[in-house]
Amino acid sequence: MIEKIHTLLKEIRETTAASREEVEQLRLKYLSKKGLIPVLFDEFKTCPPEMKREVGKLLNELKDQAQQKIELLKAGFENGEESVPSGIDMTRPVRQFEPGTRHPLSIVRKEILDIFSRIGFTVFEGPEIEDDWHNFSALNFPPEHPARDMQDTFFISKDPDITLRTHTSSVQVRAMETHKPPLRMTFPGRVFRNEVISARAHCIFHQVEGLSVDKNVSFADLKQALMYFAKEMFGEKTEIRLRPSYFPFTEPSGEMDVSCNICGGKGCNICKNTGWVEILGCGMVDPNVLENCGIDPRIYSGYAFGMGIERITMLKYQIKDVRLFFENDIRFLQQFISAF
Ligand code: DAH
Repeated sequence: MIEKIHTLLKEIRETTAASREEVEQLRLKYLSKKGLIPVLFDEFKTCPPEMKREVGKLLNELKDQAQQKIELLKAGFENGEESVPSGIDMTRPVRQFEPGTRHPLSIVRKEILDIFSRIGFTVFEGPEIEDDWHNFSALNFPPEHPARDMQDTFFISKDPDITLRTHTSSVQVRAMETHKPPLRMTFPGRVFRNEVISARAHCIFHQVEGLSVDKNVSFADLKQALMYFAKEMFGEKTEIRLRPSYFPFTEPSGEMDVSCNICGGKGCNICKNTGWVEILGCGMVDPNVLENCGIDPRIYSGYAFGMGIERITMLKYQIKDVRLFFENDIRFLQQFISAF
């Protein structure tokens, strides 16, 4: 009898059902009045007394197992699901899940914003479609001034002039119009210029702008912030160099180079053998700009800077063609799978 019980236990463990009807068949076979298990209980009565303990225990176990198994199989059809067709191995490992990657520009934008957030800059964003005031006039570009030609502009309409913003400096104006100093902000975003697309230029690119306005802000503060940024971004050994330049909205204005992180300043084709690579424009906010935005330049001063995210990313990851960022070729993007 013990053997019989063991055989049934094994059978029940291995049994499956393909439909509700089959579960019912199983219930009838094992548990109905004339089913195999009740018949064994009848047989149990004739068992020699010394065997009763062991056989009784096993028999109860068999009944429990059968009931549980039938409940389990029934539950599988409760939601109208069909059973697993035979031949499918449910224990097989699932197909490898391939996580996507963050775009290299997103990775570097975050890194830039994180670095400046550690020295007190918060993030502020503005629209990609801008009026003439925010993109040009408030930033001290007089109408018809040749400085406007530095940025070949996509116009959406003329009179009033509405453009796709040519730089994120427009967001400086929006921030100063709506916030009182002290101000420490970064402005990330997409910008547009009517450029011929090549390995070095694109009609769409991304910038991060920075602005700090307070009492007694000096050029030394600007240099300090930019030096901190350069070392955090490109490594402790990085050096910076500021060269005089011109922007209508800053006075004085400068361009900043970092020592070439590829050859360490010795000279290579990335830095065109100069040992330096230009990464951003900067300067002290022109008093006219402060005034245009309702900030008194006799009380406050400020510095600003703007950089291209593509440029920084190309340097950081030694990418030689800006078009790669916009083609979404998976073979390119997957190379950033372990970068955050
Ligand atoms: N807006 C400039 C450009 O797109 C970059 C720039 C230069 C931004 C100097 C600044 C700045 O804030 O101070 O070329």
